[in-house]
Amino acid sequence: MGFRVPLLIRGGRIITPTEDYTADIYAEAEKISRIEPRIDDKLVAPGADIIDARGKYVFPGFIDPHVHIYLPFMGTYAADDYESASKAALAGGTTTLIEMICPGPADDPITAFETWKSKAEGLAAVDYTFHMSVVRFEEHIRAQFREIVKAGIASFKVFLAYKGALNLSDEHLFAAMQLAKDLGVIVTAHCENADAIDAMQKSLLAAGKTGPEWHGRSRPPVVEADGVHHLCTFAELVGTHVYIVHTSCAPAVQAALAARHRGVNVWIESVIPHFVLDETYTERASFEGSKFVMSPPLRAKANQDVLWNGIKTRQISTIATDHAPFRFADQKKMGTDAFTKIPNGIPSVQERVDLVHTCGVAAGRLGLQAMVDACSTQAAQLFGLYPRKGAIQLGSDADLVVYDPTYRGKFSQEGSHSKVDYSAYEGWEQKGRASVVTVRGKVQARDGEFVGTLGRGAFLKREPTH
Ligand code: URP
Ligand code: ZN
Ligand code: ZN
Repeated sequence: MGFRVPLLIRGGRIITPTEDYTADIYAEAEKISRIEPRIDDKLVAPGADIIDARGKYVFPGFIDPHVHIYLPFMGTYAADDYESASKAALAGGTTTLIEMICPGPADDPITAFETWKSKAEGLAAVDYTFHMSVVRFEEHIRAQFREIVKAGIASFKVFLAYKGALNLSDEHLFAAMQLAKDLGVIVTAHCENADAIDAMQKSLLAAGKTGPEWHGRSRPPVVEADGVHHLCTFAELVGTHVYIVHTSCAPAVQAALAARHRGVNVWIESVIPHFVLDETYTERASFEGSKFVMSPPLRAKANQDVLWNGIKTRQISTIATDHAPFRFADQKKMGTDAFTKIPNGIPSVQERVDLVHTCGVAAGRLGLQAMVDACSTQAAQLFGLYPRKGAIQLGSDADLVVYDPTYRGKFSQEGSHSKVDYSAYEGWEQKGRASVVTVRGKVQARDGEFVGTLGRGAFLKREPTH
C-alpha cells in the first residue's frame, strides 16, 4: 500500500514549462488531487502534512536523466550507492533518477539489468529507472533486450567512445538501432570517435604529455562532432530516435541540429559541468586538475553561451549531470602517471538544480520556465514518464519541490551527501535552495537535509514512446 498521509502545499508560485501562477496543491495517496487558488480547511484531512510555500516556487520534482551510481569503470567503481546518491539528489531537489546500466563486455544484458536493479531496491529514496547500455549485440542476445524492454526499460544507451571497454562496433550499433526502431525505444548515445581518441592519447603520452590538462587535447570538439554526425547518420538510415548525451560544445550541438534539420529525430542533452566549468580547471596545480576530468572534456568558455542559449531556445532539451563520482585521494590519483588512467567523471547530482538557478536564472540567462522544462519535464516526456512525472497536474505523482529563491549559501563538499572527497564547485556562491522535497506525497528532504525513508524509491516501469 502507498503512502497515505495527505499533503497540502499552501500558496506557492507554481512553475511549469507553460505556467506560472499561485495556488494550493493537495495530494492524497501519493497523487496530486486538487490544485485550487485556496483549498478550504474543511477539505484538509486531520493529520495532513501542511507546508507554507508563500514567497517560494513550487516545481515538479526534478529528473536527472543521466547518472551513474553503480559503475564499474576504468579499473574502479564509482563512489556512491543508492543511499548517498538519493540523499544528494533529494537535497538538490531531484526526485527521479535515470541511471545508466553499463555492463562489462562479457556480461549478459539480463544479468546486468538484474544487478543494477538490485543495487537500488530497498535502498533508493528517489524513484528510479534505467537506460540499458548495449555494449555488444550478437544475434543470440537480441531476445534479452526485448525482455528488458518488456520489463519496463524504454531506452538504450550506446557508447561511441571508450575503445576496448564500453565502445560498440558499427556493425553492432546498426543492429541495435534497428531493434530499437522496431521496439519504439529511444537510443541515448555518448558520441565521441573512439579510434581517434585512442590514437591521440597514445601520441600525447608518447610525447610525455601525461597530466590531466592533456585529457581535453586528446578529444577536441571535432571528435565529438564527428561522433554526433556518425550516430545521426545511422539514425537517418534506420529511422531510430536518438538522444545525444552530454553534448559539450558548439560543433557537436551544430552537428545534431544539422541532422535535425535533415529530418532526423534527434534530441540534445547537455550536463551541468559543461555550462559552468571550462577547460582551465584541468590545468590546476598539484594534480587538482584531475577532479575536472570527464568525457567529453570541459571546453573553452565560449561554448557555455552556446549551451545556455540552446536551453533558452529549447534546441537543447535537457540539463542532466552525468553524475560519476570518483574520490580525489585514491581514485583520481590512479592517473598520476597518465591522464588516460584518471577515472572520468564529475559528481553534480546534488548541485545541478541550484547551479542552474544560480548561474542561469539568478544570473539573468534563463527563465524559470526553461529551467523547469530542461531539468524536469523534457526528461519525463522523452523517456516515457510524463505526466506521471515532470508535471503539476491532477493525477500526477506528488513529486514537488518547494524552492526558496532567496536562500544564500555556498556550495561545498561538506554540505554534499555524495561519498566523494571534493566538490567541483567548492566555495561558489549558491543562490536558491529546495526548502521541501516530496516524493509521491511524502517529505523526503528539507533545507538540504535528508529527512525521508530509504527504500521508498520505486522502480518506474516505462512504455516505449518512440
Ligand atoms: O566522464 C564521464 N562522462 N564519465 C562517466 C561515463 C560517461 O561517459 O558517461
Ligand atoms: Zn558518456
Ligand atoms: Zn554518463
